Amino acid sequence: MVRRIIIDCDPGIDDSVALVMALFSRSLDVVAITAVEGNVPAEMATRNVQTVIEQLDPPRLPRIGAATANDNADYRDACFIHGRDGLGEAGFVTADHHQRHLSEKIICDEVRAAPGEIGIVCLGPLTNVARAIQRDPHFVENVGEVVMMGGSFNGIGNVTQTAEFNIHCDPESAWEVFHAPIKKTLIPLDITSQVQFSLGLIDSLPHESTSVGRFLHRVIPYLFRSYRQQLGLETIQIHDAVALLQLMEPELFELEALAGDVEIKGELTRGMTVFEKRRSKNAPHNLEVARVVAVSAARQAVIKRLHS
Ligand code: BDR
Ligand code: CA
Repeated sequence: MVRRIIIDCDPGIDDSVALVMALFSRSLDVVAITAVEGNVPAEMATRNVQTVIEQLDPPRLPRIGAATANDNADYRDACFIHGRDGLGEAGFVTADHHQRHLSEKIICDEVRAAPGEIGIVCLGPLTNVARAIQRDPHFVENVGEVVMMGGSFNGIGNVTQTAEFNIHCDPESAWEVFHAPIKKTLIPLDITSQVQFSLGLIDSLPHESTSVGRFLHRVIPYLFRSYRQQLGLETIQIHDAVALLQLMEPELFELEALAGDVEIKGELTRGMTVFEKRRSKNAPHNLEVARVVAVSAARQAVIKRLHS
């Protein structure tokens, strides 16, 4: 069965790798790619979505949604990892597109047009999904599901001691989505960060004679450099590609139904995801959370899907 999805993302190198996997997959129909402020500021996120699509030249062109700034005064981008342009400072040139629709409008329109059929894959902060919930009173009943890369089950963050980047960018929106009566799946940092890629990945990429190969060879080496220089790591994590893989190869993941929440106030814990782990409590489950990943098989699957 072909799954119809909207990808909401903040490219970002790992987002763009996920877009490669999705746009050439025969099991996914990507109806739209909507930009959200996160790894890079809103305007750049929108431009990068256009850039990635232009560079990849996929068989079917999705609609594009434009990001606008989130309302969170604590927001900081992640250009120190993804480059000043968010795409590895590769110097991509993109035409200006004047006809723009807001990401949350595209999300609402597509979901309304096909009630129950569209899943939203969130690879960035949850700003646009929260806005869609506010914008359309029927959105929560019409959306098929929401799959999110974000949060941390064990409570260890990557932007603060306790918070993962996507949730920390816009904790209020994440809170709203976590509490909405929608089928939700969360692929947290503890899962995506287990699937590490060594420098050998570069030799496994498609050849540069293809549009996908050319693109990946221009962005992925930057990620190795920034992981080494900024994080002291010799391997990279391609979080969003691993999260997308959960849709494509669900047998590689074990999910657990849990009650999960987002801390929006704490001084040290703002943006932290908190899960009910006490077995004695019967809190209603609001999320399916990925708890186990077949690490080596997932790594191979990501590489294989960059070649499809
Ligand atoms: C998430 O944060 C972003 O920097 C990545 O693109 C990914 O979506 C990982 O915490
Ligand atoms: Ca992302």
